[in-house]
Amino acid sequence: MIKKAVIPAAGLGTRFLPQTKAQPKEMLPIIDTPTIQYVVQECVDSGIEDILIISGKGKRSIEDHFDKNFELETRLQEKKDEVLYTHLKHIENMANIHFIRQKELNGLGDAIYHARFHCEHEPFAVLLGDTIIDSVIPVTQQLIDSYEQYGQTVIAVETVPWENVSRYGITVGDNLSTKVIRLKELIEKPDRKNAPSNMAIAGRYILTPQIFRALEKTPRGKGNEIQLTDALQFLLKEEGIVATLIEGKRYDMGNKMDFLKTTVELALKRKEFSEEFEEFLRETIAKIDEERKNNPVKQKNF
Ligand code: UTP
Repeated sequence: MIKKAVIPAAGLGTRFLPQTKAQPKEMLPIIDTPTIQYVVQECVDSGIEDILIISGKGKRSIEDHFDKNFELETRLQEKKDEVLYTHLKHIENMANIHFIRQKELNGLGDAIYHARFHCEHEPFAVLLGDTIIDSVIPVTQQLIDSYEQYGQTVIAVETVPWENVSRYGITVGDNLSTKVIRLKELIEKPDRKNAPSNMAIAGRYILTPQIFRALEKTPRGKGNEIQLTDALQFLLKEEGIVATLIEGKRYDMGNKMDFLKTTVELALKRKEFSEEFEEFLRETIAKIDEERKNNPVKQKNF
């Protein structure tokens, strides 16, 4: 049974500046819902209600989002807006959420190390706070299923385009089934020409508490940060790791292009927007096609 999850959410979000200068990227909205609420919902849908969020400077709005807002609730009750009132109550009661601050940003590995007192006796899930995975079965549940079968550290993987391998931790291994791989090697952000595969780590993990000992031995790596992937190398040698090929679509909200695509794709899935929004998209594409036909060389830049 996996009962705890850790959500690292302390990072600077430099890829999404200037928006992230004073706002956490984990609060970037998909229409009206912050990214991290989707991540917390994935935990809850996977049976996990004890969640530790690794927070940091400038991240107070994450705490406020999951807290009670008495004034707002009173106002909604006065307005007899039952739907929104119930929605707000749902957010504040979603899970048992704890916070710890990562005072210096020393990387994802260091962020996870901050969970050692909370998770030292049992395996736990890790979900990156800026990554949403749209799937039928929550991806954390998919990893829990693998953990229950193999009893080892599990990492979520997906195939990515070869030109993007240098953005990810890349894995190599032998197939145990169509969906599970026994890992042989892990490389953090390899150059395209040195990458042994295009199977990338997808922002979800089930880690055993041995990760904390591994992190203690991990020197600073890429970007002078403590990399989780480097610590996983130690675990790979000591106790083995399996990777689960996820069924779902991953969106890295810390990346501007993914943010745009997420907004469009998830808006098309929302009942109240889908019809009108689809019509708008079709009209927009038709307009673009028309303009291209009339003026093939002209490019628009805002
Ligand atoms: P990223 O590497 O995408 O976050 O980490 P970042 O450093 O904020 O990104 P850029 O490159 O500057 O845009 C993935 C997750 O891990 C958290 C981030 O908040 C994000 O949710 N993280 C990262 C931490 O909690 N602490 C860190 O030191 C680094």
